[in-house]
Amino acid sequence: MARTLPKQNAVVETSAAQIAVHWREEEYYYPSAKFVGQSNLSDPDINERFSEKNFPECFREYADLLSWDKYWDTTLDTSDPPFWKWFVGGKINASYNCVDRHLDKYKNKAAIIFVPEPESEAPVSLTYRELYVRVNEFAALLRDFCGLKSGDRVTIHMPMIPELPVTMLACARLGVIHSVVFGGFSGEACGLRAADSGSKVLITMDGYYRNGKLLDHKAAADIAIETAKQAGTVVEKALFWRRHADQNASTSPFVEGRDFWVDEILPRYSGEIVPPVPMDAEAPLFLMYTSGSTGKPKGCQHRTGGYLAYVTGCSKYIQDIHPEDVYWCMADIGWITGHSFIVYGPLALAATSVIYEGVPTYPDAGRVWRIAERLDVNIFHTSPTAIRMLRKSGHDEPTKYNYHFKHMTTVGEPIEPEVWRWYYETVGKGEAVIVDTWWQTENGGFLCTTKPALDPMKPGSAGPGMPGIYPTILDEMGEEVHAGSGKAGNICIRNPWPGIMQTIWGDRDRFVTQYYAKYCKDTNSKNWQDWPYFAADGAVQAVDGYFRILGRVDDVINVAGHRLGTKEIESACLTVPEVAEAAVVPVVDEIKGRVPEVYIVLQPDILPPQHQEILAKVNHVIETMIGKIARPRRILIVPDMPKTRSGKLMRRILAALSNNMNTGDITTLANPDVVESVRVMVQGKEVVALTDGPEDLKAFGSVD
Ligand code: WT7
Repeated sequence: MARTLPKQNAVVETSAAQIAVHWREEEYYYPSAKFVGQSNLSDPDINERFSEKNFPECFREYADLLSWDKYWDTTLDTSDPPFWKWFVGGKINASYNCVDRHLDKYKNKAAIIFVPEPESEAPVSLTYRELYVRVNEFAALLRDFCGLKSGDRVTIHMPMIPELPVTMLACARLGVIHSVVFGGFSGEACGLRAADSGSKVLITMDGYYRNGKLLDHKAAADIAIETAKQAGTVVEKALFWRRHADQNASTSPFVEGRDFWVDEILPRYSGEIVPPVPMDAEAPLFLMYTSGSTGKPKGCQHRTGGYLAYVTGCSKYIQDIHPEDVYWCMADIGWITGHSFIVYGPLALAATSVIYEGVPTYPDAGRVWRIAERLDVNIFHTSPTAIRMLRKSGHDEPTKYNYHFKHMTTVGEPIEPEVWRWYYETVGKGEAVIVDTWWQTENGGFLCTTKPALDPMKPGSAGPGMPGIYPTILDEMGEEVHAGSGKAGNICIRNPWPGIMQTIWGDRDRFVTQYYAKYCKDTNSKNWQDWPYFAADGAVQAVDGYFRILGRVDDVINVAGHRLGTKEIESACLTVPEVAEAAVVPVVDEIKGRVPEVYIVLQPDILPPQHQEILAKVNHVIETMIGKIARPRRILIVPDMPKTRSGKLMRRILAALSNNMNTGDITTLANPDVVESVRVMVQGKEVVALTDGPEDLKAFGSVD
């Protein structure tokens, strides 16, 4: 049966594909002989082994890094495109692979080193043996006290403390699907995600440190549970880990029969061992919600076998993790980077993974480098936003500390070549190889990156496809944009890979529409070749095959490496009764890459004296419905929004105004006059010098 796909892009105003990009070509940097000598991947034969003629069997190499309860029969099943199935017939447990299997050799080695934010609290190490004990005891509690079994969902709203991976691995041990919501998200955002996943159990914490303050986190749980209830899901039990023994960081009261302190229940399960449940390779391991171009966040559903194989392969070959390494990824476990590259990948390889609770610049700009020195970290992983912030607040700080990285990662946003060079020269002291890894929540692991010992680095470019990933750039018509043409287009992945999400939780249609409808020419086809994955990023490919990522081509704003949907923020604004229309656009920010700016049109009859109060309300509602990360730079009250004749709101024009860019041709709008009056409000009476602006902003909002 042919599946009918909703039509996309009836109107494309400007597309990334039509923009010519004029980059200065950057020079190559080469890894040191010392790095190459110890690298996990120094055999150039990898390119041949993972070439298209060996697809999909090449991915056995990643799956063979794991311990399987039952080996699989079919590497890739393409019978129901684009719902690919990997390692079919195999059985595996992720918790076993990240913990139990290391006990023989590494039981006394640190699995996790926790660094509390207050420097007065010393770092705490958990050995693999200790991790094993804690995961087992907590799994027993989940099974016997909460009655959880494989296939159930649990929402976790926790900060960066070791109890978070313990909780995730305990879920994985039972086959319970965890859904970790970033700790900085509001209670409401957490509650909506809990409801969407149908979680009956919420696991959270009383409080945690952030920028020198012990925050009350329990309050968010009460709001989350209430929000979930309104959305039709009753959270029956809430479990609270405690930040400090015998203290309570929260003042909100416990609800009898619903709220429980973990440390009061856990002693009942002391010493219990829970056998890891052999899960189908295709059983979901976790959900990770992310923003898309429509209002509701999507629950990206990741499979057990393929995901774990893929992140383990990435960690071994691209992150170059050996068991002897001390590896520190500064992301938050509440995002996909933390799942793949703090928890699952490194632990599957028996690495020592560092977890830092707090803010990188607390109490001063030297903190990160002090931690690196103290723990003798040798692999470091962070985002351009953090690099920009550290560069600004302490340009020479790294030189004052005696640490040595062999390897560094940048991920989450495009990195400016200047910032890259500071990372390389000053943070890496010219000794560390850098990988710029491009990928997304949906992808499980890396899509484009250099292979650290094999491919030279090029500042600002992610590099070629990861082994086994065949990227291409397509224009709006689906024609390939050739390497070296100087033209940008939509980057797509031509083939399935084991780390790709299975589906959007509870919404198969949206999965197909969002990622495949744009370029699939024949929806009856069973050939994977007919189903390119549309990533919604603009990119350009240089003659050497390296991809340079330009940013989102849809209505998603990448704030400090975190995705926010414009529609999510807009719907929050519209809950303020005085707001009639809202539009949210990205504005270039020196540190965070992009930040949201909000335009609102008010209901008739609202007088200027009310404006201040409305602005405060809009600000507040964004913080409570989404979180502080979505806080706008400015909120502008405008008389009307620029619209096409068909009524489509032109965010691209507002983005141009907010960023002092050329608006392009506006004569075809239904209301071109409004652009000038909005311009005066945004930029003032004087005509400012206009620029061409970043490529992603020119294309912003062109796909929806
Ligand atoms: C979006 C995905 C995947 C981990 C963190 C973000 C942007 C990601 C890079 C990079 C340029 C990048 C893209 C992508 N992005 N990595 N190395 N260079 N841009 O995950 O929240 O799902 O965001 O982040 O725009 O689509 P995410």
